[in-house]
Amino acid sequence: MNDNGLPFHIRRLEAKDIPAVTHIDRLVFRDPWPESAYVQELYFNPNAHYFVLQLTPAMPTRTWEERRAALDSRIIGFVGMRVEIDRGHISTLAVRPEWRGWGLGELLLLKALEQAIHNGAKTVSLEVRVSNTIALNLYAKYGFEQVSRLRGYYADGEDAYFMRADVTDAEYQQRLHSRYAAIIARFIPT
Ligand SMILES: CC(C)(COP(=O)(O)OP(=O)(O)OC[C@H]1O[C@@H](n2cnc3c(N)ncnc32)[C@H](O)[C@@H]1OP(=O)(O)O)[C@@H](O)C(=O)NCCC(=O)NCCS
Repeated sequence: MNDNGLPFHIRRLEAKDIPAVTHIDRLVFRDPWPESAYVQELYFNPNAHYFVLQLTPAMPTRTWEERRAALDSRIIGFVGMRVEIDRGHISTLAVRPEWRGWGLGELLLLKALEQAIHNGAKTVSLEVRVSNTIALNLYAKYGFEQVSRLRGYYADGEDAYFMRADVTDAEYQQRLHSRYAAIIARFIPT
């Protein structure tokens, strides 16, 4: 999985990215994390793997909002994965609103799943708001199943689904590679 030559790249979160990431966090989530949570993950959690998706100047834009967002901050999405022994857990996933629908959220999810598998995860879990149809669709695409419903999980009282996917199957892993390549191919000029 190589991102060379693309109008964006996915790379590991660095300290300098934390303001941009927390800005997106506040834009996107009703219960955003403070900067200190990312500092904690970056410096003090050896099981944490965070990635950002950063535009390069070649990224095409469809609207003025996208162009403005591109100039504003070249980081437009991020994902967090924690892997403990053979269990992965997705802690966060977000794409700036102006950049949704390109397949970039899916690409970030694939990156995180690839990392979990690389680190020996057999399963990957996550929590998601029961009302979050878009994320539920995305997770269903990659075999995440509802294990339980966590009552009042979020600060505003909304329930979460606790979801889990088995990532051990070789065909499943091959599908991740193929999907990653297919999304990347959309961005390679013909
Ligand atoms: C969830 C999120 C990361 C998806 O990112 P995205 O870049 O918009 O999504 P993609 O373009 O990669 O789409 C991937 C899949 O998501 C689902 N999806 C995306 N947009 C959708 C929409 N408008 N309606 C229904 N499903 C949708 C589909 O399953 C889609 O696959 P498909 O194209 O084969 O139908 C993004 O919507 C987001 O940041 N949401 C707010 C934060 C959030 O809810 N994070 C998840 C926390 S658990």
